[in-house]
Amino acid sequence: MRPRRMKNQNEIINNSKYYLANPAEYKGKFNELFGNNNPIRLEIGIGKGDFIIGMAEKYPDINFLGVEVQESVIVRAIKKLDNKKLDNVYVMMVNADKLSDIIDHEIDTLHLNFSDPWPKTRHAKRRLTSESFLNIYDNLFKGDAHIIQKTDNILLFAYSIEELVKHGYKFNKVSLDLANEDIDNVETEYEHKFKLKGERINYLDAVKCIRK
Ligand SMILES: C[S@@+](CC[C@H](N)C(=O)[O-])C[C@H]1O[C@@H](n2cnc3c(N)ncnc32)[C@H](O)[C@@H]1O
Repeated sequence: MRPRRMKNQNEIINNSKYYLANPAEYKGKFNELFGNNNPIRLEIGIGKGDFIIGMAEKYPDINFLGVEVQESVIVRAIKKLDNKKLDNVYVMMVNADKLSDIIDHEIDTLHLNFSDPWPKTRHAKRRLTSESFLNIYDNLFKGDAHIIQKTDNILLFAYSIEELVKHGYKFNKVSLDLANEDIDNVETEYEHKFKLKGERINYLDAVKCIRK
């Protein structure tokens, strides 16, 4: 669901030091932007930002880039970020299908958290683990490809496993109940809501060796 537009939305977004208005300017230079050579992780569909902010706080030696397509959603993440003092996170408002224009073999890990399931077959291409997105992601990774996905939706989870296998990924971990695993975890907003309802969370950690 799309949240209501905030009155001063544009002002909040454009005045934030965490917001990259023209992210393509940093293509191939994100380490310069962060001012270090620490690994960079990307989250697509950051929602209201709880995961990326929690991760950036927990791991100050890892850099984080967050992508969100909806303005009325990213503004809420930016409002939270503006109350923090972090130097390892930036967010941008783009559709993930444009990421090859912005990131060039720079990230170590991609996080996909509670991505929209797009249940109708005719919309399958919009799922963030469809073949066309996996092809885009190949060019974002610095070395081997590494995707971590969490979702409540078992059909999206099954689809993702199938697509990742077709694309040459192998699995470090597949779980149908993240809460019962010994896995380091930062909750997202959706995850929090599902957990309160007693729903299980699916989790996968997949890697693909990319030959250069
Ligand atoms: C179901 S919400 C989950 C939000 C958050 N990750 C969480 O777990 O609480 C999915 C989010 O992904 C964003 N999104 C969906 N497709 C996207 C795309 N192609 N590029 C960037 N963001 C996208 C949506 O706008 C939405 O905010």
